[in-house]
Amino acid sequence: MPETIKAHGGTLVNRLAEGPERQHLLDEASELPVIPIDSWTISDLDLIAVGGFSPLTGFLNEADYRSVVERMRLENGLVWSIPVTLPVDPLQAKRLKPGDRVALQGAEDRVIYAVMELTSLYTADHANEAEKVFKTTDDAHPGVKKLRSRSSVYAGGPVWVLNRKQPDRFGEFYQDPAETRRIFEEKGWKTIVGFQTRNPVHRAHEYIQKSALEIVDGLFLNPLVGETKSDDIPADVRMRSYLVLLENYYPSNRVQLSVFPAAMRYAGPREAIFHALVRKNYGCTHFIVGRDHAGVGDYYGTYEAQEIFREFPPEDIGITPLFFEHSFYCTACGNMASSKTCPHDKSRHMTLSGTKVRALLRSGECPPPEFTRPEVARVLIEGIQEPEVPVV
Ligand code: ADX
Repeated sequence: MPETIKAHGGTLVNRLAEGPERQHLLDEASELPVIPIDSWTISDLDLIAVGGFSPLTGFLNEADYRSVVERMRLENGLVWSIPVTLPVDPLQAKRLKPGDRVALQGAEDRVIYAVMELTSLYTADHANEAEKVFKTTDDAHPGVKKLRSRSSVYAGGPVWVLNRKQPDRFGEFYQDPAETRRIFEEKGWKTIVGFQTRNPVHRAHEYIQKSALEIVDGLFLNPLVGETKSDDIPADVRMRSYLVLLENYYPSNRVQLSVFPAAMRYAGPREAIFHALVRKNYGCTHFIVGRDHAGVGDYYGTYEAQEIFREFPPEDIGITPLFFEHSFYCTACGNMASSKTCPHDKSRHMTLSGTKVRALLRSGECPPPEFTRPEVARVLIEGIQEPEVPVV
């Protein structure tokens, strides 16, 4: 294992303009045509800027987009599984052409976030993108629904980021890839396992994290706090639950908690590859992929997000995936287990659906301690009953 794992493509991208260059670009931006961008694009832009999406230096051009959709690789052959695209209003697109420079401005806050050199302007086939990326064209799939809500005209090209969205929450837990890499080095960790989650950490999550932690130096708990579907538990409630869990059940010198400010795509297998590559950029050497990673409903097989890794030579991914079977508490074993370690009948396995857990929490009841730590349950009950939290 190298001292510090290389970013995907070899170099950690930095597209943040600073000093006189930034001032020059800000002056230029005031004269440029403006493309309004939503909060989803702002979060993509930020991750491009700090190298979270290395090797991307901007939004995908047409050749890269087609290559990513069809074969999960950029045109130059590097593995990349999720199209990171910039949708543009079709009427506005008529007034733009490749070679133009444009300013990307927040549609709501009017902040000029970036200057982009428009190298490519193209129309995507949304049905094909949905089928290839999400394996369905069903509008009930949250990723497909989001895709269809956006323009199918995309602009591609490199960006120079002038302003970043200031984190309004979890400020102290925002660490850019360069920073997490420095933190891991300071801690003396050579092997780091990344954990993606959009949920509170339940006992099964804890079990697979700690199983991984037995063989690596540190755990990078990296909860996604960007856009999620409305029935996922809100990020601020989840953050409180992670803190109370870490405080009570994890050795503080073996865990780094930092937020992952990306939007959730719900693309199952393809998103597992994407999540792994991005965590490599944050400096992880290993990445956990459990059951139905980044899945939703019944769109993906339980282990499809693990199987997809076999489609690539390991060196093309460059981060070691750690696969875990469906885990549960077994009342006969008296501990957490999976089918790899437990010989007992399913009737002895405690599993609860997300819907059932949410129903319990809403009614103020703690799920069983074999499922959720009581300290976590209490935080979730409090959080889920706050008026601003959407209840489904
Ligand atoms: S995700 O959409 O962010 O992947 P979630 O937060 O539920 O969803 O899962 C985080 C990670 O834990 C994923 O790798 C997922 O596969 C894994 N996971 C969740 N529940 C279990 C379980 N019961 N057994 C094994 N792995 C699990």
